[in-house]
Amino acid sequence: GISPRLNQMLEELLEGIEDGLVPAWIFNDPELFELEQQKIFSRSWVYMAHASEIPQAGDYVLRYVANNPYIVVRGEDGAVRALLDMCRHRGMRVCRAELGNASHFRCPFHGWTYRNDGSLVGVPAEREAFGPGFNKAEWGLRPIPRLEVFDGMIFGNLDPQAPPLEEWLGEIRWYLELVTKRSPAGLEVLGPPQRWVVNTDWKLALETFLSDSYHTLMTHRSLIELGIAPKDAKYAMYGEQIHIPGKGHGSMVVGAPPGAKLPPFWGYPEEMMERSKASYPSREQFETAKETRILLVTLFPNFSFHNPIRKPDHKYQGTVPMLTFRVWHPLGPGRIEIFSWALVEKDAPEWFKEKTRHSYLRFFGSSGTFEQDDTEIWSHVAHNASSSQGRTLRLNYRMGLSLEPDPNWPGPGVAYGLNFTDANMRNFHRRYVEMLLS
Ligand code: FES
Ligand code: FE
Repeated sequence: GISPRLNQMLEELLEGIEDGLVPAWIFNDPELFELEQQKIFSRSWVYMAHASEIPQAGDYVLRYVANNPYIVVRGEDGAVRALLDMCRHRGMRVCRAELGNASHFRCPFHGWTYRNDGSLVGVPAEREAFGPGFNKAEWGLRPIPRLEVFDGMIFGNLDPQAPPLEEWLGEIRWYLELVTKRSPAGLEVLGPPQRWVVNTDWKLALETFLSDSYHTLMTHRSLIELGIAPKDAKYAMYGEQIHIPGKGHGSMVVGAPPGAKLPPFWGYPEEMMERSKASYPSREQFETAKETRILLVTLFPNFSFHNPIRKPDHKYQGTVPMLTFRVWHPLGPGRIEIFSWALVEKDAPEWFKEKTRHSYLRFFGSSGTFEQDDTEIWSHVAHNASSSQGRTLRLNYRMGLSLEPDPNWPGPGVAYGLNFTDANMRNFHRRYVEMLLS
């Protein structure tokens, strides 16, 4: 349950949002962290893996939903499962690697052995130890309560009563598909994810990807000065910001700054643009994609992707866009682990795959120039949020409060024709606090 103190603070948060005020304490609070684990991460569809990470029977990766370790594994029957990495005998982890291929998992404690579909098939000295009536069928690894796949994206949910994934996604699907259905061949990961720990709150990282086009002006100023980001410092403003009411999801669809000569379709090779015509579900999606240079989509609660056009350096004449999937995995109050994948269309030309991988590493990998700008700042905000004076401050989420929605936008959701707005963040926090209180 929620303590009366926390309940009152959350009611204040709910009230403040309409007025564009968010209290700083929510970005670093031990009691709230526990409540988030329970009310949000135990009831939401959480992104776990991409199908292309485990293409062959026996391929597995280790992932987390709340604080539960799961082996996401493709069985000999081709089905994808997520099995709790906890031996049914005495609780040891049965999978000792982050990724690999295995037909079986053998527990290092007493040697119980499970097939990669979770069934228990081997118990050392079974007869002597447990007698003849021992029924192995009752002692398989526990599967995650719910697992669903959307266009290769594997999601898990700890709540058996959760709505279907499709209903959970709702209208954000249209924006997701701009990437997942860009090619008829679909996406593939370019290797395993980079992972690193940051002393911050998952909501701060998420907010930046969900809505904060405003920070590029200052945080990433050095990249503008280097000639890597577009010359116009307000480049991220020229876009549409869209949120899905009631769901917490949002997107930013950014075009070219006025007067800037940037190739269409994120700067992907022309052959890829041609192929997308047939694979997008609607004409509107193709037309939107053609005008897009930067696309971000964030799914409630902790998944984002970022798909920007990039000039790899000031000398290179062309552009090499990149695509990164993100999970903002909460580890504790004021502490997260970032999972970051680079992805590309399966049928992209080989030269392009290599270049886009480099583009990712240079800008948004753990050593990327953009990334380091951001994480440094997020960690200071989270620290301040836990300080005795800082936690009583309310922060300004008032940008764009008086903007009117754009009636001409072709996609679903509530869209604003100016990307300098906190509309997506306000929508996220509304959903966030409602879920905490329900
Ligand atoms: Fe796994 Fe005993 S804990 S075999
Ligand atoms: Fe940033």
